[in-house]
Amino acid sequence: MKKITAPDIIKMKQEGRKIPVLTAYSCPVAKILDACGIPMIIVGDSVGMAEAGHPTTLPVTMEEMIYHSSAVARGALNPLIVTDMPFGSYQTSITDARRNVARLVKEGGAQAVKVEGGRRTVETIKAISNMDVPVMGHIGLTPQSIHAFGGYKVQGKAKDHAEILLDDAKELENAGAFAIVLECVPAELAKRITESISIPTIGIGAGPACDGQVLVTNDMLGLDTGIRAPRFVQRYADLNGVISSAVAAYIKDVEDGEYPAKKHCY
Ligand code: KIV
Repeated sequence: MKKITAPDIIKMKQEGRKIPVLTAYSCPVAKILDACGIPMIIVGDSVGMAEAGHPTTLPVTMEEMIYHSSAVARGALNPLIVTDMPFGSYQTSITDARRNVARLVKEGGAQAVKVEGGRRTVETIKAISNMDVPVMGHIGLTPQSIHAFGGYKVQGKAKDHAEILLDDAKELENAGAFAIVLECVPAELAKRITESISIPTIGIGAGPACDGQVLVTNDMLGLDTGIRAPRFVQRYADLNGVISSAVAAYIKDVEDGEYPAKKHCY
């Protein structure tokens, strides 16, 4: 398999090929995604909710992103690894943003980074692009803005807000973003945005017209922390069920003296 780069992802849009994307936070899951041929993995700050049990992504630190990103980069050699810049790592200053991008690349093995927000991230995106690090934008329901939004709500339903998001997408493209995540926006708006820019849109709860789709892997595998999955999630497996059955069988075997058996002994 060939190593996928940011230009390859742009080319997929140009060639009309859909871009399947998933999140990963660990080496074994990254290895599986790679072996299945996924072209791009996002090491999302969703790790804070999916793996650490936080109610939002806000507590996630640079150290945690570096830890998870480096694990994923060791496991997945072929997909493009895009690592989230966590809350506080780029909002404080352009200098902080540049320093933290350098850490994600050097220590976290990131091959691209993602920042949340519309036009206010333009200078940050330009600064990161000037470091020759591909940068992905993220607009719509940006989870780091959850307190300002007042909850996980669909964005861009009102006409004037839809126009703002459309302009944001164009500004991010002009600033040098190589792709944009569109999260929880009406399918019709996602279609307009996708048709208005030449870089790929990667949708999550944004309908079928996006150039690619992303899901939080834990959600699509049915490995959850009890928080109800959003309506846009399609479950492809029930890992909660699979793990529960395996653990119950293990408990029973130990209690019954069936494990360890002779073949497990030295
Ligand atoms: O944090 C995350 O996992 C994300 C993707 C779902 C786009 O931002």
